[in-house]
Amino acid sequence: MIEIEIIPALSDNYIYLLHNKVTEHTAVIDPGVSQPVIDKLMEKKWDLNQIINTHHHNDHTGGNLELMKIWNLELVAPFKEQNKIPNVTHYVSHDDQINIADISSKVIETPGHTSGHVCYYLRDYDLLFSGDTLFRMGCGRVFEGTMEQMKNSLKLLKNLPDKTQVYCGHEYTLSNTKFCISLEPNNIEVYKEFEEVSRLRSNSSKTIPFLLGNEKKLNPFLKFDDNSLKKSIGLEDKNETEVFTYIRNSKDSF
Ligand SMILES: [Fe+2]
Repeated sequence: MIEIEIIPALSDNYIYLLHNKVTEHTAVIDPGVSQPVIDKLMEKKWDLNQIINTHHHNDHTGGNLELMKIWNLELVAPFKEQNKIPNVTHYVSHDDQINIADISSKVIETPGHTSGHVCYYLRDYDLLFSGDTLFRMGCGRVFEGTMEQMKNSLKLLKNLPDKTQVYCGHEYTLSNTKFCISLEPNNIEVYKEFEEVSRLRSNSSKTIPFLLGNEKKLNPFLKFDDNSLKKSIGLEDKNETEVFTYIRNSKDSF
């Protein structure tokens, strides 16, 4: 019933088209630029109905206005970023239900990367659009929120089912995975992930979408309570926020 098109854009962004084959409604998620979106819509012969933004950064919103000049669009964005994204027609907050391409979706506020960042969870299809909160084997930099907020945001995502397929905002997976090895040099599963990701990237293949259950086992930014990881980095007696902060700071200077 749905079709998802992944559009690489800018240096490492992903823009997503979500198309409902029954109602023919189409949404674009985080159009940082407009032209590749227009090209893909023309190729697919789809009309655009809706723009969905996860947060205000220009590499996620920069194409909004150009697309709105062509189509009569609903623009959905976080209420908490209302002064930062122009021309919004529909604001969303935590736990709101919103239809994306006519498919029911729940809004999950995930402050940290930006103060009003939201993710969109389509439970009936086990899909999560995670913006710059959760990446494969990584997470977004903490620019506007606190480390504790970001840790709690990731904890909310961690509560979603293992079978959830995650679509994130950037292709950072290879460098993320190298960092993960530095934290857990004795974790064979992390090495296997690195090999798989290296293989994909050597063919210029995408590492998106990815399975949340796998991230819960391997992504250190979701393992702030994992005793084996804490031991590996020498933080066995530290709390979740302290562990998360150490990992985030280490990645920032990796
Ligand atoms: Fe961002």
